[in-house]
Amino acid sequence: MKHPLYLPRMPNLPRMSALPPGPFARLATLLGDVKPGKEPISLAIGDPRGAVPDFVQEVLAKTAASFGHYPAISGTQDWRQAAADWLNRRFRLNGAIDPEKNLLPLNGTREGLFSVLFPLMPESKAGARPIVAMPNPFYQCYAAAALGSGAEPLYVPALKENGFLPDFASLPPATLERLAAVYICSPSNPEGAVTDNGYWKDLFQLADRHDFLVLADECYADIWFDSEPDCALTARLAQSGGFSRLLSFHSLSKRSGLPGLRSGLVAGDAALIDKFRAFRNVAGPTMPGPLLAASAACWRDETHVTANRITYQERMKAAEEILGNRMQRPKGGFFLWLDVNNGEEFALKAWRDQGVRLLPGAYMGREIEPGKTQSNPGFSYVRVALVNDLSTIKTALERVRELL
Ligand SMILES: Cc1ncc(COP(=O)(O)O)c(C=O)c1O
Repeated sequence: MKHPLYLPRMPNLPRMSALPPGPFARLATLLGDVKPGKEPISLAIGDPRGAVPDFVQEVLAKTAASFGHYPAISGTQDWRQAAADWLNRRFRLNGAIDPEKNLLPLNGTREGLFSVLFPLMPESKAGARPIVAMPNPFYQCYAAAALGSGAEPLYVPALKENGFLPDFASLPPATLERLAAVYICSPSNPEGAVTDNGYWKDLFQLADRHDFLVLADECYADIWFDSEPDCALTARLAQSGGFSRLLSFHSLSKRSGLPGLRSGLVAGDAALIDKFRAFRNVAGPTMPGPLLAASAACWRDETHVTANRITYQERMKAAEEILGNRMQRPKGGFFLWLDVNNGEEFALKAWRDQGVRLLPGAYMGREIEPGKTQSNPGFSYVRVALVNDLSTIKTALERVRELL
């Protein structure tokens, strides 16, 4: 006999069916059993592979006893002070970030970028399903968040002709009215484009006019080539005297080259942080004590960040020497966004002939016209991650040059 709570089969749950497999699963399918033509080198995954600084290892060892306690969702007072001091210093905020009100720790920025929509998504907006807009191509987590929270994702092309930045203001008025949130990434993954103060100001004015949230993914803010990028918190404070409607996301995966630490933060509008904190108190992950202590040490130290940035600058210089005018130097981040006519074909060839693993740009984008693969803004590109040591990168790029 069946239990009274037995469900004969799961009802059809289409909410996440619009989410394709992740980019690396698609790359594994594309390359399948194809043998690499040379000793394999992967420039596909953006895994920063930093050496763990000694001071991080020391702090972890010293604080291991705190594994014996549940940590608080807001972290420790020490973490909050270190993170707030970094934000105030780095973005010249004159102390506007209050450690108790304007920030929260995240177990890596990704989980925060995903879960933030759940407590903040209205049931409807302008009488219809809310829309969450994002650049196209984009970090795939944004679409999962939009779909998971019941909103309609809207992919706004980030094309070469608009500096690889989405033009949200060009959306039709009826769409703007339904916007609940936009994700914007600067420096952007994959193109390395940067939003300047003018872009931020226009975006905040649009957000105020149409009452939507700005979710600024600024994970790569500390990895830049010629000058520091203009950042969201600075621009919003200058424009409005506060942070309303803005949440900005930062990551030690990139700043400190420590992706395995799983440590980031979200900062901005105190009312939004309040709601997010309340939701996380029920459903969010907390950051373990030793990781909070190690993270606080990382937010306080700039020496390892400067050293880290110099290694990226050296890698980018080497790439320019090898690829010349076949590449465009990004403004920030650690990816090259190479136009190769057909990214999938090129990635397959790079693997088969040269043993170099690259990510087809299309796997980070969506077709603008369904069924037309070429309408995907990433179609003609490959993304190249400069995360290996310098000599491996040089070898791989010399092999890639053979195919250009
Ligand atoms: C644009 C972007 N946002 C967020 C993340 C997530 O970073 P974290 O390691 O802090 O979760 C990444 C990681 O690759 C990224 O590229």
